[in-house]
Amino acid sequence: MQPDQAVETTGGVSRETTGRVSRETPMNTATETTEWPSPWDDDLPLAREAQRAVKVLNPAGDVSMPRPGRRRVMGVANQKGGVGKTTSAVNLAVALALHGNRVMVIDLDPQGNASTGLGVEHGAGTPSIYEALIESVPLAEVTQQVEGIPNLVCAPATIDLAGAEVELVSVVAREHRLERAINNYPFELDYILIDCPPSLGLLTVNALVAAKEVLIPIQCEYYALEGLGQLLRNIELVKVHLNQQLQVSTILLTMYDKRTKLADQVEQEVRSHFGDVVLKSVVPRSVRVSEAPGYGQSVMTYDPGSRGATSYFEAAEEIAVRGAAMGAN
Ligand SMILES: Nc1ncnc2c1ncn2[C@@H]1O[C@H](COP(=O)(O)OP(=O)(O)O)[C@@H](O)[C@H]1O
Ligand SMILES: [Mg+2]
Repeated sequence: MQPDQAVETTGGVSRETTGRVSRETPMNTATETTEWPSPWDDDLPLAREAQRAVKVLNPAGDVSMPRPGRRRVMGVANQKGGVGKTTSAVNLAVALALHGNRVMVIDLDPQGNASTGLGVEHGAGTPSIYEALIESVPLAEVTQQVEGIPNLVCAPATIDLAGAEVELVSVVAREHRLERAINNYPFELDYILIDCPPSLGLLTVNALVAAKEVLIPIQCEYYALEGLGQLLRNIELVKVHLNQQLQVSTILLTMYDKRTKLADQVEQEVRSHFGDVVLKSVVPRSVRVSEAPGYGQSVMTYDPGSRGATSYFEAAEEIAVRGAAMGAN
């Protein structure tokens, strides 16, 4: 941990849990379970970092996030590129899987960044989500186990997916291909996170039809909310015509730079507009988060003691607690 990062925490408890998270909120269980035990001197940044790493990696399997009453399918969408869709899909999936949930990541972006970030094979010729969508190959035949994360599988994207947007146009039930693939998947899952491309074309529509929930990452930067209206209108269109159950259940603020006033303004604006849908945990801008994909890893395993890993752990915990509260309906 860098010396300046140590200032961000108070006694090992993150800013989110000491600051804006009220202990009276319904998220009580989430915040209570994020208290760090203190077997070491909390004043030592290294000890704190080690404690965080143990909590995030969960080697003994004793930290579990509640499982939902039914499988949750979440499309991670925002038609802006570079807002943290892939980073969030990958890290939330790993966090949930490391803590007792069975998770699938579907890489629906032809760039294949989620596949890269999870270290799964996605070179040309690899069975991928393209075959599942266009050629009706069962999803179970294209998913791969993510190395080192027993409860996590990934349906990778290869370069073939770049053509799918056009090819889908003439395919039967073109908006329902992903939904069908998911519904025919024979193994039990708690979460399916779909990493959408930065557009509102047929691939994203397939995700919005297959999902019940949309998770929108919002970057705490200039123009963060630009284009959001268009995404929300599209979600509404899909809801009216194709998938009545669809709802924006989760908004995650990413790349928060606490040194800028702007990040704070964006946060306030998003919270006042979207209320409780916005997760209390905020993902800071962190070099460690951006380095991790270069090693085919999530930040959860690349640097589990870092602030980035801790914030994704906390966000995943909030998502899990909400999911458990939703019950089986
Ligand atoms: N919290 C963060 N701190 C620093 N860099 C980040 C963070 N989240 C994402 N990035 C980097 O920003 C870029 C865009 O993120 P990405 O998740 O790929 O966005 P999207 O999928 O929306 O295009 C990537 O290079 C990623 O590594
Ligand atoms: Mg992406």
